[in-house]
Amino acid sequence: MFAMSNPERPVRLGFVGVGSRGTSMLQTALMLEGVEITAISDIVPERVERAQQLVMESGQPKPKGFTGEEDYKKIADLTNVDAVFTATPWSLHTPVMVATMKAGKYGGTEMPACDGYEEAWELVETAEQTGMHCMLLENYAYMRNVMMVLNMVRHGLFGELTHCETGYQHDVRYATIGDQGELLWRAHERYLHHTGNRYPTHAIGPVSQWIDINRGNKFEYLVSMSSRSLGLNHYVAKNYGADHPNAKRQYKAGDVNCTLIQTANGITVTLYYDSLSPRPVDFIYRIQGTKGIYSGTLDKIYLEDTSPVPHQWEDIEKYVEEYDHPLWKKYGDIAVQTGHGGSDYLCMRDFVEAIRHQAAFPIDVYDAATWSIITKLTEESVLNKSKPVDFPDFTRSKWRERKPLPIVNS
Ligand SMILES: NC(=O)c1ccc[n+]([C@@H]2O[C@H](COP(=O)([O-])OP(=O)(O)OC[C@H]3O[C@@H](n4cnc5c(N)ncnc54)[C@H](O)[C@@H]3O)[C@@H](O)[C@H]2O)c1
Repeated sequence: MFAMSNPERPVRLGFVGVGSRGTSMLQTALMLEGVEITAISDIVPERVERAQQLVMESGQPKPKGFTGEEDYKKIADLTNVDAVFTATPWSLHTPVMVATMKAGKYGGTEMPACDGYEEAWELVETAEQTGMHCMLLENYAYMRNVMMVLNMVRHGLFGELTHCETGYQHDVRYATIGDQGELLWRAHERYLHHTGNRYPTHAIGPVSQWIDINRGNKFEYLVSMSSRSLGLNHYVAKNYGADHPNAKRQYKAGDVNCTLIQTANGITVTLYYDSLSPRPVDFIYRIQGTKGIYSGTLDKIYLEDTSPVPHQWEDIEKYVEEYDHPLWKKYGDIAVQTGHGGSDYLCMRDFVEAIRHQAAFPIDVYDAATWSIITKLTEESVLNKSKPVDFPDFTRSKWRERKPLPIVNS
């Protein structure tokens, strides 16, 4: 049974994993009204204590602390926890969510939500069997520019859509190699033994919403190719010496992965994963159709019938007043105080409000599985001369009837 029955009562959250991301999202949750943090778990006791301290400093009672490897199961069973949010390494996301849903609670996870077909189906089937919901807290789907584009898509500004381009293009070598040149968990999860696109959801999430994936459209298949692997070797050699074992190690992941996705209604997507090269951040977020194009790289737009100069980009400012997403108009001032340009606030807020009203999440278990399985599909394609690999239909044909995401959920 879902523990919450009264929408007037605070939403009580348990946090599993309070490292960098978990702590930041904890602080974001503490900014929301009607939220209590009642349980914290991390295998590093000092992190649990730090998190408990943050909760108490906000005026709430000390949450119960846990430090065991599998104590997320105890948290799921607590009667004063309505939902669990996990920001652990990837390998724990599905186990934590499954234990949470089986205990009759809502779950929220960092990304990717699952690793491979088995976990993806386990996540979907547990949600279906328990009637509980699991949200991928994909904060990049809450960025101001991508939400404005979603609003513009709904107003038909780009006409009939044809193509999107997106990518996680962010140099994360600093978070992959430790300060003695050792491999951190990102190296193990993403680069050492695997190839393909190991972190697809920041990039594919907003685009999936623009083109109604799992809600009238679906990803059909992809083809993927990776470049050679040099970035981590160069980084370790430069910072810790050419003789460091991790400077000489063979990493399986190519530095740049490029994927093409075909969808049921013919809209194509180019998806990049470029995280091991020296480069500034650029998530691309380009959308185009019969009437025009938006480029997130440039943050500019071109609409054939209304842009003042033919063939020339137009600044986006002119469109903000009319098309800024209603949630950004309402909460923008407070949201910008949180991480990732304010997207963390709106993401956590949607999570909490769905729990409060016992509603479905805007990024649900089907989205979580579909966006996350790209890790597996791209690896299969890369290892087989870029052969096409079909997407599983986690909705089991329900994508045909499911309604496009509303502009405002609550
Ligand atoms: N959405 C975003 O913008 C964003 C940004 C950064 C990281 N992330 C994601 O957040 C997750 C965590 O990343 P991070 O950078 O905070 O890493 P981190 O290493 O700082 O934090 C992970 C925490 O999980 C804890 N942990 C490990 N095993 C555990 C267990 N069995 N039970 C409880 N806690 C356990 C670790 O001790 C650590 O404190 C990853 O999935 C990552 O991909 C998302």
